[in-house]
Amino acid sequence: MTEEPIKTRNPAFWNEYYDAGTPPWQIEEACPPAMQFVDSHPIEACRILIPGCGLGHEPEAFANRGFSVVAMDLSDEVVKTAKKRLDPKLPVTYRPGNICDAEPETLGFFDAVFEQTCYCAIDPRDRPAYVEAVHGLLRKGGVLFGVFYQADHGSYPPWPISREELSADFSPFFNIHTLERAQNSIESRAGKEWFAYFSKK
Ligand SMILES: C[S@@+](CC[C@H](N)C(=O)[O-])C[C@H]1O[C@@H](n2cnc3c(N)ncnc32)[C@H](O)[C@@H]1O
Repeated sequence: MTEEPIKTRNPAFWNEYYDAGTPPWQIEEACPPAMQFVDSHPIEACRILIPGCGLGHEPEAFANRGFSVVAMDLSDEVVKTAKKRLDPKLPVTYRPGNICDAEPETLGFFDAVFEQTCYCAIDPRDRPAYVEAVHGLLRKGGVLFGVFYQADHGSYPPWPISREELSADFSPFFNIHTLERAQNSIESRAGKEWFAYFSKK
């Protein structure tokens, strides 16, 4: 039997959602669990990478807290739209591209990676490559934090992810400091997000 192609690797798959209007995952505020975390936790303002940034409001929110932000997305369409929306005074760089194809000069460059509904959008067959890519982009001791969304939409993303799977996927490369139900998710995501705080091994 031929294996189903990995459609989520194709920018056109994501462009279609963004061309059609507001995508179903859009939230009109910066991720509350992550913002509360950075506001109450000693993560210093640093170089942060946001993979699969979409039209999320986190790049601006981190930049307003003093972070220097690189926001990446496979969809060149969404990167164009996000760039147009951005206040040019903010230290945010939007880049189109696949997080798994990082430029060699960006390896070890970032102090932090922020996750929100990107991992769940990665085909499970590509998840090992994604974990290794994020690990490689972080400097030694760098941190990964944010929310992993848990849902099941059948043959389309987001694909399900359990706490046990997350732990098994990330623990070979990261120390797992926190992996628990997010406490202050937006209403529609309550009970469906895992809040994570990992550091690079
Ligand atoms: C479900 S959306 C979430 C967008 C955003 N994080 C949010 O919360 O609104 C997943 C995003 O990840 C992007 N994406 C999927 N695979 C990617 C990859 N390998 N590298 C970079 N971006 C990717 C998609 O283009 C899409 O914008």
